[in-house]
Amino acid sequence: MKNEWNWMLDPKSEDGGLNMNKKGVNIRCGDVLDELKKMESESIDLVITSPPYNLMNTTSNSMKSGTSSKWKNNAIQKGYKNHKDSLSKEDYNIWIRDCLTEMFRVLKPNGAIFLNHKFRVQGGLIEGHPFLEGFNVRQIIIWARAGGFNFNDTYFLPTYEVIYMMPKTPKGKDAFRLIKGANRKTDIWKINQERNNPHPAPFPVELVDNILTSCEGNVVLDPFAGSGTTGISAIKNGWDCILIDNSKEYCEMAKKRIEEFNYEGELNESRV
Ligand SMILES: C[S@@+](CC[C@H](N)C(=O)[O-])C[C@H]1O[C@@H](n2cnc3c(N)ncnc32)[C@H](O)[C@@H]1O
Repeated sequence: MKNEWNWMLDPKSEDGGLNMNKKGVNIRCGDVLDELKKMESESIDLVITSPPYNLMNTTSNSMKSGTSSKWKNNAIQKGYKNHKDSLSKEDYNIWIRDCLTEMFRVLKPNGAIFLNHKFRVQGGLIEGHPFLEGFNVRQIIIWARAGGFNFNDTYFLPTYEVIYMMPKTPKGKDAFRLIKGANRKTDIWKINQERNNPHPAPFPVELVDNILTSCEGNVVLDPFAGSGTTGISAIKNGWDCILIDNSKEYCEMAKKRIEEFNYEGELNESRV
């Protein structure tokens, strides 16, 4: 897919470039792999992202058709604007593995990926995450959300998602490290879901805040950026940020959200 547009927020920059000494957000509207392949190796400190979960490839007929009442409030039941979220299991695994390979390439040696995903029951059994095989995973953080909607009398109501912490270098002098004291945040984060966000599957700003305030670095990348939540947190926490999404509508949504947030001066949490 051709890059649709590019947008840069760097109010202090005269050349419009992403200057590492100033805080800016760059939104690149295009396919994740196309855009990642344009990026320099070892140029990014952190990747924080939530890819599509392939939810429309499902054994649940009511999810497919969106007929069951439990799915009525679930905006994702129609997929994304430019991605149906219904690849075959094999194609999904290959795709996420290709994306992870590119994300690791652009990461600096002491960087890490924080990958948000979730487990689901398919055909009566929990489905694993085989796309992680062979990649470095150091920790699984539990994101405990306020509630769930997937009521099913064969299992307890699911209320959590996971965040895989994936260091580029697992040990030695280049190993990824948290800043001093950040480990006290523990591996279970109770954070409510995002509300008042027109995107069908946003993660909360607070979740990204938790990561950015725990790590050293300047530039964070979100290659499945959606409504730009990582960009909001980046501005809040003084990081430069690169966002990629293949939907022009979501890129516009992210631009508007970030502009409003940035130019308001005072942080207005209700708009986040
Ligand atoms: C789970 S959502 C991310 C939501 C985001 N964390 C937020 O807070 O708004 C996944 C995003 O991946 C995007 N996406 C799907 N396929 C893509 C592709 N091939 N290239 C780039 N982005 C893609 C979708 O448009 C969607 O916005």
